[in-house]
Amino acid sequence: MATRSRVLIACTGSVAAVKIPLLIKQLQQTDPTFEIQLVVTKNSLFFFDTNAVQVNIYQDEDEWKWNNIGDPILHIELRRWADIMVICPLDANTLAKIANGLCDNLLTCIVRAWDQKKPLLFAPAMNTLMWEHVITKKQIETLTGFGYIEIPCVAKKLACADVGMGAMASVETIVEKIVEYIAVLQHGHSEGAETKTEVKESLET
Ligand SMILES: Cc1cc2nc3c(=O)[nH]c(=O)nc-3n(C[C@H](O)[C@H](O)[C@H](O)COP(=O)(O)O)c2cc1C
Repeated sequence: MATRSRVLIACTGSVAAVKIPLLIKQLQQTDPTFEIQLVVTKNSLFFFDTNAVQVNIYQDEDEWKWNNIGDPILHIELRRWADIMVICPLDANTLAKIANGLCDNLLTCIVRAWDQKKPLLFAPAMNTLMWEHVITKKQIETLTGFGYIEIPCVAKKLACADVGMGAMASVETIVEKIVEYIAVLQHGHSEGAETKTEVKESLET
């Protein structure tokens, strides 16, 4: 793990993506030594102003600047760079894609190529009825079965005015989780914890 922890935030097309500038700001304030980069889906860009975010932002089109054998492949470079990946918000569409192993954009290619020894956190965010659909539970269980760590959604009045489960966890909770997992990664490193499962277990005990 790099001395300065490298956090890859990944953002999908949920209305909760409006919180991305705040989340990155809070993360930077919480630990100014963090190196942070952002990966976005095309649809997530609808929800926030990229000028409000002072970190590198990678989009699908950046992946396709590749020319020749030997050139870096962005989704592999980003997974090598990152110590931890946090998908927030994770919308229903990308949840379904990841659960089924699809990799048709930069974000899902990083996830598909993810190094299982590193933590991957996800914070779902969707409409209450989307959340309550039986397929959501199955897909979330598939992701946790892969060893990814859920930052559970919460109940509140959603942007669409429905009230219920499906809102993304608060920015504070997400920042806390990132800090928590990085601390365990650093601690685990010196103690010899090698796998994400061990990191997860040490957090749970
Ligand atoms: C205004 C608006 C708000 C949306 N909010 C959500 C949301 O909170 N959660 C969700 O799962 N999908 C939401 N969607 C639908 C996703 O944007 C849509 O499924 C999209 O294809 C997701 O693309 P992506 O997963 O590649 O980012 C919303 C769509 C619109 C137009």
